[in-house]
Amino acid sequence: IDYGTPASTSEKMITLTIDGNEVTVPEGTSIMRASMEAGIQVPKLCASDMVDAFGSCRLCLVEIEGRNGTPASCTTPAMEGLVVRTQTQRLKDIRKGVMELYISDHPLDCLTCAANGDCELQDMAGAVGLRDVRYGYEGENHVFAKAGMVANDRWLPKDESNPYFTYDPSKCIVCSLCVRACEEVQGTFALTIEGRGFNSRVSSGAAHDNFIDSECVSCGACVQACPTATLTEKSVIAIGQPEHSKVTTCAYCGVGCSFKAE
Ligand code: FES
Repeated sequence: IDYGTPASTSEKMITLTIDGNEVTVPEGTSIMRASMEAGIQVPKLCASDMVDAFGSCRLCLVEIEGRNGTPASCTTPAMEGLVVRTQTQRLKDIRKGVMELYISDHPLDCLTCAANGDCELQDMAGAVGLRDVRYGYEGENHVFAKAGMVANDRWLPKDESNPYFTYDPSKCIVCSLCVRACEEVQGTFALTIEGRGFNSRVSSGAAHDNFIDSECVSCGACVQACPTATLTEKSVIAIGQPEHSKVTTCAYCGVGCSFKAE
């Protein structure tokens, strides 16, 4: 289970109520993690217990009694006495709207995608009940793309320069998990987000804008963190998803210093 945010090391315990259930967690625990520990799944795309919360995808919003707005549960700490709701109709509608926007700007090639069946974007679209998208994805049918022009930086070609994985900018949802994994898990700082709006994208910052010329050490932390097929192991593209897998932070060997069997 991925609890969405790292565990708190505080020894002080606090109790709050989430969807009618009393939950006791260490002080400093996020509302998302407290919910997950209570068995309540909050939809998420940009949170992982590998890295600190960032709050970019806006899928994990919750309601807190007595407070205005809908804060992100991954970045909001649980506090003594809070009464939290995670599944109101308003939250469901917001999440569906957010997912609709993500999917409207995403290639719809799930059946032939290397991540099919192991894609958090696909899972979340199903989890929030998204069935229709009102906004058209133009992608390769866009007039600029047909003319061979790059109208959106995320339509740049795949970067296949790394021997272990590919980077496909068209599938990126700019959740920044790869950037944070590179920094916080590996301590390498090889990746960044550049651009604004539709043109925001992950960049290696290298002279030729590819991974092989960057500071990347091929540790695989970014690939492990990616919730879509943006960063995909070449072996998965070649032979498909493994029936069983080992999760490791190192692409150089199959053992892994943070080995976890699935
Ligand atoms: Fe909380 Fe993305 S999971 S904002």
